[in-house]
Amino acid sequence: MDVAAVESDLVKVLFTEAQIQERIAEIAAEIDRDYDGKDLVIVGVLRGAVMVMADMARSLTRHVEMDWMAVSSYGSGTKSSGVVRILKDLDSDLTGRHVLIVDEIIDTGLTLSWLTRNLSSRGAASVEVCTLLRKPDAQRMPLTVKYVGWDIPNEFVVGYGLDYRERYRNLRDIATLAPHVYS
Ligand code: PRP
Repeated sequence: MDVAAVESDLVKVLFTEAQIQERIAEIAAEIDRDYDGKDLVIVGVLRGAVMVMADMARSLTRHVEMDWMAVSSYGSGTKSSGVVRILKDLDSDLTGRHVLIVDEIIDTGLTLSWLTRNLSSRGAASVEVCTLLRKPDAQRMPLTVKYVGWDIPNEFVVGYGLDYRERYRNLRDIATLAPHVYS
């Protein structure tokens, strides 16, 4: 879906499809270098990471196994508790392998902080994080992130996998959502 289809719902485009592809290619080149000769599994966090996983994997110039997890927070449905429940676990055994968790956004950091600890306990050789977007002002948990596309302000962003009530995920660009949509 193009921005033109939902223009009145958006405040501004933060990153165009072309800018996203360019940044992903840069990060993929770093990953190619850093993991040269190593057995690499990339783990996408459903559902938002589908787009970035698909584009990142295709930008790599090496074999990579793609696996997926689905997680959800316990309690009120907000992420405030910091307790995460696995809805879909990995199919792969991580023992002795290099794991790169790929997500589209780090907000509070709770999801990936928990996930990094969880995957590290499975005997992986290494567990690192790659995110397209990060909101430093929203982050509540310390988290070491190896690859970041862009740091962004603490605003409501949609597109390229990011949703508001399951809409806008299939928008090609990343844009800030107009307050009238969610207030
Ligand atoms: C988003 C995103 C991250 C998480 C980041 O997923 O994909 O996994 O939130 O937030 P945090 O840093 O505050 O933990 P979400 O729970 O919205 O699910 P989705 O991917 O299905 O949209």
